[in-house]
Amino acid sequence: MTGSALASHSFGAPATLDLSVPNVARMSDHLLDGKDNFACDRLAVTELLRAAPELRALAASGRGFLMRAVASLAAEHGIDQFLDLGAGLPASPCTHEVAAGHAAGPCRVVYVDDDPVVTVHNRALLSGRPGVWAVQGDLRSPEVLVARLSSMEAVDFARPVGVLLGDVLPYLPDPAQTVRAFRNVMAAGGAVVLSHLSRDRADQGMVAAVEKIYARTGTGIAIRTDAQIAELFDGLAHAPETLDTRPDPTVPGLTCYAGVGWRVRGD
Ligand SMILES: C[S@@+](CC[C@H](N)C(=O)[O-])C[C@H]1O[C@@H](n2cnc3c(N)ncnc32)[C@H](O)[C@@H]1O
Repeated sequence: MTGSALASHSFGAPATLDLSVPNVARMSDHLLDGKDNFACDRLAVTELLRAAPELRALAASGRGFLMRAVASLAAEHGIDQFLDLGAGLPASPCTHEVAAGHAAGPCRVVYVDDDPVVTVHNRALLSGRPGVWAVQGDLRSPEVLVARLSSMEAVDFARPVGVLLGDVLPYLPDPAQTVRAFRNVMAAGGAVVLSHLSRDRADQGMVAAVEKIYARTGTGIAIRTDAQIAELFDGLAHAPETLDTRPDPTVPGLTCYAGVGWRVRGD
C-alpha cells in the first residue's frame, strides 16, 4: 500500500493515514498474508506473534470459517443477501465471490467498516460490480447503521439476511448491543455468523501482552471468555465451534469461539 495510491481516490470519506501507528485492519491483512500494510503494522504483528504464535494460523482459520458459513448459507439455506460487518481490507476470496459461487441466483452484499481507508479500498475493488456495496459505518452505533442500511436498496430486512461479524466484536466495547440491533430486525431464517478470540485456553500474561499491542492501534481489543461470547448469541439458535490452531493443545494459547446463530422466529 502506498500513500499516493490512496490519495488518487477522491470518493468516500477523506482517508487519514499516520504511518507510525499500527492499524487493526492492516494488521489483520498482514496476518492473512495480504499486501495492504505498512512497516508499523508488520512490526506490531511480529510482536503479536511473539506473544501468541498461534495467531497467524488462527486468523486464517477464522477467515475460513466465515467463508464456509457464507457458502453454506447461500447454497443450503437460500440466503442471497449478506452484510459483512467490520469487513476489513479485501481478502481472497471475498464474501461476494463466495456467495455468488454458491447461490442459485444473484446475491447482494454490503461491506461495512468504520475505517475510511478500508472503505476506499473496498469501493475501488467493487466499483462497477452490480449487487455489491461498500459503506463506512460504525458498529458502536448499531441502530444508526441499521437505519441507514434499511434505507438502502441493498438489503431487505423483511427477508432472511446473513449478518457476518468475523473477528470484529473484540474491537467493540459493547458487542451485545451490536448483535442485538441486527438480530432485532432480522426475519426468521436469517443468521448471524460470528467469530471472537477467546482467552479460555490462554494464560493471563499472553492475553495482557496481546491487548497491550492492540491498545497502540487506538482501537483496542477485548479478548473475552467462551461464556461471554456465547451470551452474544442470545435469542439465536447456535452450535458453537472452537477454532484451535495450537500445535500442542497442552500449551496455553488463544483460540477462537465461532458459530452461526439462527433467527428462528421473526418477532
Ligand atoms: C480483524 S479485522 C476483520 C476483518 C474481516 N471481518 C475478517 O474476518 O477477516 C477487523 C475489522 O473491523 C473493523 N472495525 C473495528 N471497529 C469497528 C467499528 N466500530 N465499526 C466498524 N468496523 C470496525 C476494523 O477496521 C477492521 O477492518
